[in-house]
Amino acid sequence: MTARKKIAAANWKMNLTWPEATELVNALVDSIEAVNDPCQVILAVPFPYLQSVSALVKGHIGYSVAAQNCHQKAAGAYTGEVSAVMLQAMEIAYCLVGHSERREYNGETHAVLADKLVRCIENKISPIFCCGEPLAIRDQEKQNEYVAKQLQEALFVLSSDQAASAVIAYEPIWAIGTGRTASSQQAQAMHRHIRSVLASQYGEALAGQIPILYGGSVKASNADELFACPDVDGALVGGASLVASEFSAIVRSLTSA
Ligand code: PGA
Repeated sequence: MTARKKIAAANWKMNLTWPEATELVNALVDSIEAVNDPCQVILAVPFPYLQSVSALVKGHIGYSVAAQNCHQKAAGAYTGEVSAVMLQAMEIAYCLVGHSERREYNGETHAVLADKLVRCIENKISPIFCCGEPLAIRDQEKQNEYVAKQLQEALFVLSSDQAASAVIAYEPIWAIGTGRTASSQQAQAMHRHIRSVLASQYGEALAGQIPILYGGSVKASNADELFACPDVDGALVGGASLVASEFSAIVRSLTSA
């Protein structure tokens, strides 16, 4: 059996001008020229930068580029939107689906996310499916049911063959951009739970192959501890991914974990 992928993914969100982005990517690949299997670095960048960042990382083994979103329809009169068909034509390998900011600000429902997942798979794009509970749910200790439902209502639209290319990112909403990281015990417990929910649908073998990333205030100083957890297969990093020295330190933590 092949080793499960380990992934350091950057989520730039709506940050960085193009000159800043170029500087960041160049500093990153200068610092870490390549990463070897099973490790990967994925940069989720704004749409206008997809092609140029792909060119900057070309030839750097283990690097790839992700879109932060795609539309749920294949094509049509949806002004301002970008389809998975377009992303595939640009050879984009990954796409974030269901980030909590899109669920909240763009009203993305389980049904919309299920359609987006299918569009990704139809276009040979690996979806990075984001899930995670708000603080009120954590306070009521209902996070396991909440996250299971997010998986069941959207991800489980995929067959086993299709789910094999998916990546999960667990991002507790109370830890995103707040400086408050889940403890490694909280992260491990939820990742273990997510893997068991995946196993209930897809079987143990496939569940054991799907990478589950942690996201929410990951930084160089807490990466080692998180990556030491047996079910934490990497990170989806927002704020700290905008600083080359921070993100390269996180990548180093991953490759040495
Ligand atoms: P953060 O964001 O690292 O800034 O908390 C993570 C994310 O939203 O993907």
